[in-house]
Amino acid sequence: MDQEFAGKVAIVTGGSGGIGRAIVERFVEQGATVVIADVDAERGEELATSLGGPAAFRRTDVADPDDVQALVDFAVDRCGGLHVMVNNAGVSSSFRRLLDNDLRDAQRVMGVNLFGVMYGCRSAALHMAGHGGGSIVNTTSMGALTGGSSPIVYRTSKAAVIQFNRSAACDLAEYGIRVNCVAPGHISTGITNYDLEPVIRLSQPLQRQGTGADVADAVLFLAGDRSAQITGVVLPVDGGTTAGPSFAQTQLLLAQARGEGGGDAG
Ligand SMILES: NC(=O)c1ccc[n+]([C@@H]2O[C@H](COP(=O)([O-])OP(=O)(O)OC[C@H]3O[C@@H](n4cnc5c(N)ncnc54)[C@H](O)[C@@H]3O)[C@@H](O)[C@H]2O)c1
Repeated sequence: MDQEFAGKVAIVTGGSGGIGRAIVERFVEQGATVVIADVDAERGEELATSLGGPAAFRRTDVADPDDVQALVDFAVDRCGGLHVMVNNAGVSSSFRRLLDNDLRDAQRVMGVNLFGVMYGCRSAALHMAGHGGGSIVNTTSMGALTGGSSPIVYRTSKAAVIQFNRSAACDLAEYGIRVNCVAPGHISTGITNYDLEPVIRLSQPLQRQGTGADVADAVLFLAGDRSAQITGVVLPVDGGTTAGPSFAQTQLLLAQARGEGGGDAG
């Protein structure tokens, strides 16, 4: 089968580990040249070396607009263009309830999760607009689509990404640039440093553990020509969590509310 991204250049921010790494690997499998951008230089360099010629690493703090512009310039100079920008880098925020939360992490979290996406879109689009267009994929979160309290700053940053994504999609359409979001949920990575099994059992209709590769498949779909008519959308990759609980999960919650204890939510 032909490689879908042969001859294309992609940047993946937060590409050193977790979901970003899986996205980098899928792009390389599909023939793209990939620039891995991350603050974690050790893991990023290692990954680029292990993938060989089609991958390069560039240390980048996405919260710094100059760093992001230098990243795009690097990709264009070194790889000869830029067709796909994946703004995936993200950090979590405090899980404290609002009255116990001094919000001191808010600037850093908004800087990475929201401003990083905005800078990435703009710098990539500045190049793409003059070179036949391109595709931008931003990472929001299931946590921006569902209600819920904590982590409050994280949810807020990811909700803002969804609105930015819509506005950018409308504004950039005339240049042939599409802008879409993936919204992962319950993927086991560095950011989900808690036991996902009970959460999946109680709230995710598909009783399987999602992987970075599942998210990567959605990113590649939105990045490529198969989604040529799609812009401004949010695609959840969450085992159905944002659709709501399964029948069995609802029965379990009702039983717990009645004080009847256990049950099998499978
Ligand atoms: N894992 C999940 O279930 C889940 C759910 C919803 C959304 N997400 C989102 O998916 C994306 C990837 O997260 P992950 O789960 O792979 O977590 P992760 O912690 O494994 O990976 C995040 C990567 O981003 C990098 N990074 C952090 N700050 C950066 C910065 N300022 N500049 C550049 N790189 C930076 C980290 O070094 C790391 O390599 C994030 O945007 C996250 O919010 C993940």
